[in-house]
Amino acid sequence: MFEGKNVLLCVTGSISVYKAVDLASKLVQDGATVDVIMTESATKFVTPLSFQSITHRPVHTDMWAPVAEFNIKHVALAERADVIAIAPATANTIAKIARGIADDLLSCTVLSTKASVIVAPAMDVGMYQNSATQENVKRIRNRGFKVVGPAIGHLASGLEGPGRLAEVPAIQAAIYQVLGQNGDLAGKRIVVSAGGTQEPIDPVRYIGNYSSGKMGFAIAEAARNRGAFVTLIAASTSVPPPLGVELVPVQTAMQMREAVLELSRTASALIMAAAVADYRPQNSAPNKIKRKQKDLKLELSKTPDIVAEVSGSVIKVGFAAESQDLLQNATGKLKEKGLDLIVGNDITAPDSGFSVDTNKVIIIDRNGEADQLPLMPKIEVAHKILDRVVALLPRVAH
Ligand code: C5P
Repeated sequence: MFEGKNVLLCVTGSISVYKAVDLASKLVQDGATVDVIMTESATKFVTPLSFQSITHRPVHTDMWAPVAEFNIKHVALAERADVIAIAPATANTIAKIARGIADDLLSCTVLSTKASVIVAPAMDVGMYQNSATQENVKRIRNRGFKVVGPAIGHLASGLEGPGRLAEVPAIQAAIYQVLGQNGDLAGKRIVVSAGGTQEPIDPVRYIGNYSSGKMGFAIAEAARNRGAFVTLIAASTSVPPPLGVELVPVQTAMQMREAVLELSRTASALIMAAAVADYRPQNSAPNKIKRKQKDLKLELSKTPDIVAEVSGSVIKVGFAAESQDLLQNATGKLKEKGLDLIVGNDITAPDSGFSVDTNKVIIIDRNGEADQLPLMPKIEVAHKILDRVVALLPRVAH
């Protein structure tokens, strides 16, 4: 995904440095080239070798170390970076960059760069809440630096409060949003629905389905990484949603309908990965139904077909989870619902469909052309779907 992109990870002295090792690993796994600068105090917590082993590149610690090529190290690092992330960022480093002090490799590099800078503070609660730090954080925000966190919780000092380094996915999301700025979905609004709706029977019971939300979440994450502004309408799911997207939680098909109709009016594409209940209890009992009668009959009403109701120039992508006659059923739904693309999957196939991390799908378009994809991780399926959406974009009004 991020092949050819350069991330400069700047690491300062905090107990949370170990999380930055994990962050570096995730960035490398996603294809980025990761350069690391460590301040001297950072090296007291973790050795440069940890980062070097993960990034397969030399780690920079010393402003004055001789270099092989003729370049000025901080200028070269500053220029090469597509994004700079300072994580963890101590109060001291934040103070230096807020004031433009340049007395070590990290601060010189940050002062030289034209790249976007992300800062993830990590420090004791007292240091963070001190008005000096608060002023410095405000100052760097005003200069356009993106501040991620700090998270609130248990701190190494034993105190509780704001000061924990933000979790790795949150820092990763901020980095990927910057890297995606020039992606093929830059400036586009994409609405994605995910998860399974829950239709209440009474205050404690509902009709639901096995959707985990993983496929929709993968699409939202992939679209975010390609530069889109993503609105994720999420019903019940079993995994945490991606960060860096606008999250709209819903429960029922009717709530999902309202959100989809409203939000897709100004979107370039609507991708309906949610498993929407086709039927809902006609009446939801106001009180818990008692176990008195022998049998209980539930009267169900058909829910409106949400995606079919969406009109305008928005690109409409639907899903068809089928247990038989996949091609025929999916093609029928594409026409009935007025879709541009339908993604069909055979839910009886192993490693495909609900809850798992992989999917084997067929993408069918309006001309009836069907592209059968092999079994692949849901994030790769997401990119394949988005490739097709991008190809249709010129037709969209906005
Ligand atoms: O007809 P079926 O439920 O299989 O259609 C699946 C596709 O239609 C999915 O994209 C789903 O999100 C969407 N859908 C909808 N409104 C419904 C039921 C399904 O938009 N009431």
